Amino acid sequence: MSNPSILILPGDGIGPEVMAEVRKIIDWFGAKRDLVFDVSEDLVGGAAYDKHGVPLADETMAKAQEVDAVLLGAVGGPKYDVLDFSVKPERGLLRLRKEMDLFANLRPAQCFDALADFSSLKKDVVAGLDIMIVRELTSGVYFGEPRGIFNEGNERVGINTQRYTESEIERVARAAFELAMKRNKKLCSMEKANVMESGILWREVVTRVGQDYPEVELSHMYADNGAMQLVRAPKQFDVIVTDNLFGDILSDCAAMLTGSLGMLPSASLGAPMENGRPKAMYEPVHGSAPDIAGQGKANPIACILSFAMALRYSFDQGDEATRLETAIEKVLADGVRTADLMGPEGGVPVSTAEMGDKIIAALDASL
Ligand code: NAD
Ligand code: IPM
Ligand code: MN
Repeated sequence: MSNPSILILPGDGIGPEVMAEVRKIIDWFGAKRDLVFDVSEDLVGGAAYDKHGVPLADETMAKAQEVDAVLLGAVGGPKYDVLDFSVKPERGLLRLRKEMDLFANLRPAQCFDALADFSSLKKDVVAGLDIMIVRELTSGVYFGEPRGIFNEGNERVGINTQRYTESEIERVARAAFELAMKRNKKLCSMEKANVMESGILWREVVTRVGQDYPEVELSHMYADNGAMQLVRAPKQFDVIVTDNLFGDILSDCAAMLTGSLGMLPSASLGAPMENGRPKAMYEPVHGSAPDIAGQGKANPIACILSFAMALRYSFDQGDEATRLETAIEKVLADGVRTADLMGPEGGVPVSTAEMGDKIIAALDASL
């Protein structure tokens, strides 16, 4: 049987920097755990635009459809701000999500003990936090029609449309309930049913799907209150399911509970392929961080944890995923910190590559 395949799309800014560390980890699993992957690499975002004039070439899109998992770094940057909207780096990422039909975006937010002091919130609010945000990723206001900038009388109007079909809500709700069943059987659905019809439908469909999961305690919350509750008392949640835009915002919010955006991984999953594996792309929640790009300062942990999610969700290697997560936990417990994880007391941060090396050393020690 051939090895499982991975397509790496490092992208822009700190994307290639953090992805270089992931490659070390992939190589380690090949050498030390006999988990060999067929790895190929290609361009996305501004890097693809520079070469092809588009943020994702058709051949790259086709490759992404073929492989068992895609790993993506980050896209975007000020250099590309002037480009026409249709070829902006972010469009490459959105095309991958849409054409691969990756409707369920899993964004866990876990506060490692060693970082509990570092969150901008009080330690007792975040210590032990382990929540999962399930963001709908292929519909809603990100993709709804009509959209565009139009002339209206003597001025212009910008239009985006929030649109959800019942089946779109149902499939992401089901993914969230399935996750809740494997975790603490608690699911909170967030929308704004008080002001949006799409929210009313969302609540109705999630409630209906919930009838198939009587063991899961389902609650509903308006998304604005949800944002407040996430900062007030995040540990009241276990799994949260929400739409594309609310999920984008709420997951950045959740990121700070863990100490840094540089810590948050994600998995974007679609329907099962012929080989039983879900269509999947793994990426850190953070962006290309132009303010620190090229300086070796980026925290590679979000990207490495995204690979851990790939081990778990695409390759059925839950134990190896745990091995990797534990190695990261150990490195943090030893006080190893990239610059984003330095508290007010300061200290000497390690570089992106040094963080990767420390994680490799901890993996070696785990054998
Ligand atoms: P960002 O996530 O790139 O950066 C926000 C802040 O967090 C910055 O101060 C940055 O230095 C810091 N940060 C982010 N990741 C870090 C890491 N791994 N280690 C240390 N610090 C880190 O968000 P932004 O500045 O709003 O966006 C910059 C560009 O990235 C934009 O073009 C945006 O569209 C794009 N973006 C891409 C993705 C993606 O590719 N998935 C996600 C978000 C933003
Ligand atoms: C994210 C990002 C993307 C989004 C952008 C870069 C298209 O912010 O993955 O969270 O809005 O979904
Ligand atoms: Mn975002």
